[in-house]
Amino acid sequence: SAWEKQIRHSATPRRPNGFSVLVTGAGGFVGSHCSLALKKRGDGVLGLDNFNTYYDPTLKRSRQAMLLKHQIFIVEGDLNDDKLLRKLFDVVPFTHVLHLAAQAGVRYAMQNPQSYVASNIAGFVSLLEVCKSVNPQPAIVWASSSSVYGLNTQNPFSESHRTDQPASLYAATKKAGEEIAHTYNHIYGLSLTGLRFFTVYGPWGRPDMAYFFFTKDILQGKPVNIYQTVDDKEVARDFTYIDDIVKGCLGALDTAEKSTGSGGKKKAPAQLRVYNLGNTSPVPVGKLVSILESLLSVKAKKHVIKMPRNGDVPYTHANVSLALKDFGYKPTTDLATGLRKFVKWYVNYYGIESRVKKETKNVAEDSD
Ligand code: NAD
Ligand code: UGA
Repeated sequence: SAWEKQIRHSATPRRPNGFSVLVTGAGGFVGSHCSLALKKRGDGVLGLDNFNTYYDPTLKRSRQAMLLKHQIFIVEGDLNDDKLLRKLFDVVPFTHVLHLAAQAGVRYAMQNPQSYVASNIAGFVSLLEVCKSVNPQPAIVWASSSSVYGLNTQNPFSESHRTDQPASLYAATKKAGEEIAHTYNHIYGLSLTGLRFFTVYGPWGRPDMAYFFFTKDILQGKPVNIYQTVDDKEVARDFTYIDDIVKGCLGALDTAEKSTGSGGKKKAPAQLRVYNLGNTSPVPVGKLVSILESLLSVKAKKHVIKMPRNGDVPYTHANVSLALKDFGYKPTTDLATGLRKFVKWYVNYYGIESRVKKETKNVAEDSD
């Protein structure tokens, strides 16, 4: 059918030995960037996304339109629709799956806990069930999260550190994903690589994240809340620029070994890996706000709240030496440089004219 033809076309690699990658969550922030990077280097990419309304679906549709310009097609569907997943694998023998679809966000887990269970646990299992049973089995790289370190106070975090104190249901479901991956690797020989991203930001980002709505609120003259820890310390994050994360995802795909099973049976031990992908340089949230103030040339109405929020952890800080050793991962973008690119995208995407546009003119000129 025309649909199958479109899917095949999108997923066919254009370089010798190129990959055919199923990117779940391709309508999302990280998924759209990775899809584009894969396509640009000649891999075939097919997206899957349910375009849910957790945040502005128009933004997801704009990313979809951007991908379509590069001949990347996103199938609209849910991870839990295993008939659809099987159909996609019938049409395309995917060599790799980059699994980024999830219910993200730390705070929303208190409003809608079941959505985390449905996408991050049931949805992941649904995908793995299909991957284990097809022949050839794809190698899988999936998004875990820095949130698995939870209340751990070792600094910086290494992959071997304890992850048994999640501070939110989101973190608990991401941790569960890592355990589930272990099982599917152990029993079915699936090659699985988990990437613990650290607070990713950049153009086409997520409107539910602090840097994004701080930008909006500062421009609109609304107050921004800066939460602190119980002992009045500043909360800090190892903010990581999207291009660095994309390089990490591609590096993990490139070094993933083949799965060793077929048709639901394992032949030999397969690869199971977990890596931190961070920036190795935590920045306090107050500093994030002051960088935005200077990029936007607008003073923020800072509202410091001497209390942590439920679900938040006091700081995150990645040790990335394992990813450096295994696939040369080296973050290269500092927060001020990355935010400059974000702000440039933001004013352009939302068509913000006048003062801001003028005052960020040099921003637009010197970033690509
Ligand atoms: P995102 O919300 O922009 O992207 C996720 C996409 O998955 C969305 O477009 C959503 O519509 C889709 N989706 C959700 N549930 C689905 C389902 N059941 N079936 C099909 N599609 C579904 O988030 P993101 O920031 O791009 O995050 C990508 C991945 O990285 C997620 O797994 C997230 O948990 C993880 N992560 C993100 C960050 C970050 O700071 N952005 C940090 C750590 C981990
Ligand atoms: C982010 C993503 O939202 C998660 O999906 C992801 O899994 C996680 O990173 C991760 O690294 O694993 P978070 O770091 O909480 O989670 O990102 P934001 O929601 O953007 O918050 C960043 C910081 O700003 C936090 O320290 C938060 O406490 C603070 N914040 C947020 C405020 O001070 N005020 C606000 O109004 C909102």
